[in-house]
Amino acid sequence: MSATRSTANDSTRAFPPDFLWGAATAAYQIEGAADVDGRGPSIWDTFCRQPGAVLNGDNGDVACDHYHRVDEDLDLLDQLGVGTYRFSVAWPRIQPTGRGRANQRGLDFYRRLVDGLRDRGIEPTVTLYHWDLPQPLEDDGGWRVRDTAERFAQYVELVASALGDGVGRWITLNEPWCSSWLGYGSGEHAPGLRDIGAAAAANHHLLLAHGLAVPILRAAVPSAKVGITLNLGDHQAGSTHPLDVAAARRADGNLNRLFLDPIFHGRYPDDMLEHYAAVEPGFAVVRDGDLERISLPLDFLGVNYYFPSTVVDSSRAAQARVAGYVVARSEQFPDLHVRSLETPGRDKTAMDWEIQATGLTSLLVRIRDEYTPLPIYITENGAAFDDYVDPNGAVVDQNRITYLQEHISAVHDAIDVGVNVRGYFVWSLLDNFEWSFGYSRRFGIVWVDFPTGTRLPKASYAWYRETIRTNAVEYATSVGSA
Ligand code: FCB
Repeated sequence: MSATRSTANDSTRAFPPDFLWGAATAAYQIEGAADVDGRGPSIWDTFCRQPGAVLNGDNGDVACDHYHRVDEDLDLLDQLGVGTYRFSVAWPRIQPTGRGRANQRGLDFYRRLVDGLRDRGIEPTVTLYHWDLPQPLEDDGGWRVRDTAERFAQYVELVASALGDGVGRWITLNEPWCSSWLGYGSGEHAPGLRDIGAAAAANHHLLLAHGLAVPILRAAVPSAKVGITLNLGDHQAGSTHPLDVAAARRADGNLNRLFLDPIFHGRYPDDMLEHYAAVEPGFAVVRDGDLERISLPLDFLGVNYYFPSTVVDSSRAAQARVAGYVVARSEQFPDLHVRSLETPGRDKTAMDWEIQATGLTSLLVRIRDEYTPLPIYITENGAAFDDYVDPNGAVVDQNRITYLQEHISAVHDAIDVGVNVRGYFVWSLLDNFEWSFGYSRRFGIVWVDFPTGTRLPKASYAWYRETIRTNAVEYATSVGSA
């Protein structure tokens, strides 16, 4: 721990009595059973087989084998004491080709999960899309084409009518920024394209899919609480130079405003429309009426937060180095002309993500001030570290405990200033398939021995259980990193 970052001031912070504590996972990352019970292929099955796409050539064929160990995982949730569990439904289990009638065996699996949760007094929180698009839909254009949004609406109808009586909280999409910009723009995620115009079109079609799903959910499950989960960030400029300030604004436009503005203000931000005006098809795919759908009222916003971000204009990389920053070797999106910086001395996770919990507080305040008073759930937050089973057979992940303590404190800080945060989900219940990093990055509060599937709760699991039991956290604050 750096001396500048973490200070505990001894006070214990209590959360509101109805604060909801949860744990999160996603289908492709944990289920395995790729060919079981009629599941069809997804874009991640395909992507994993592209040489060099995923570290060590890993894939989700077996993952945590959650599909076959669901009872054991339900018991882990039960013993943890969570009030809710966030999982995703794999579209290719419900519609193996992305179209047509439901595959009953796929629905049965989720019914069993939902019932198992409810038997244990745990509320299911269902994510309808956590990145595993059926491959046949990608073959027909994927999120580049409007039809995929229509297909999604049909899939949602099947899931909502089958599981609606057991599920009260629904998340349409997880992190559509990743699906569009990493999937079609930078190529880091499936389907692995590098086409900015396609990414912009995907951005819109994903939001349209969300908008089409909302009334379907409301009709199928009248009491449903419906929301969307966004990965949002708090971009800071590396200096006060106007070029760097403008760079931070562009990064903010791409990550945050391209999603928050249409959902809560019913329009895309002008500066971003201008920025992407020349790419094809880009936002030319927007049709009359789409933004009305995208901005339909919701019941909550899900926010995923992991790390802070400092950026400069690419032309100012040299000055940033002189100022003491470590400058990213390349731009994630060349058109944005932005370079990410690392602040020397700041602690990092095994993802190389800097740790700074205050960014979460300021992000939450900004959402309240600029976008919505709706209830907010932190639908993901957590950290990967290089965990190991020690000679006593334990995983003592003190660094993860510190990370969680700081971020949960940051959530409390936001509640203190009146932000309507209603719950927190740790990412993740289990070590799992971390997308292009394969099994090399462990985010779980439960260790998974991948060759055998054996689960071993880490020290952070016991710490989180205690946090839930007391509904309070020892206050920790991020200082010296502003
Ligand atoms: C988020 C994803 C989640 C997990 C975490 C670490 O972007 O939603 O599946 O991979 O990052």
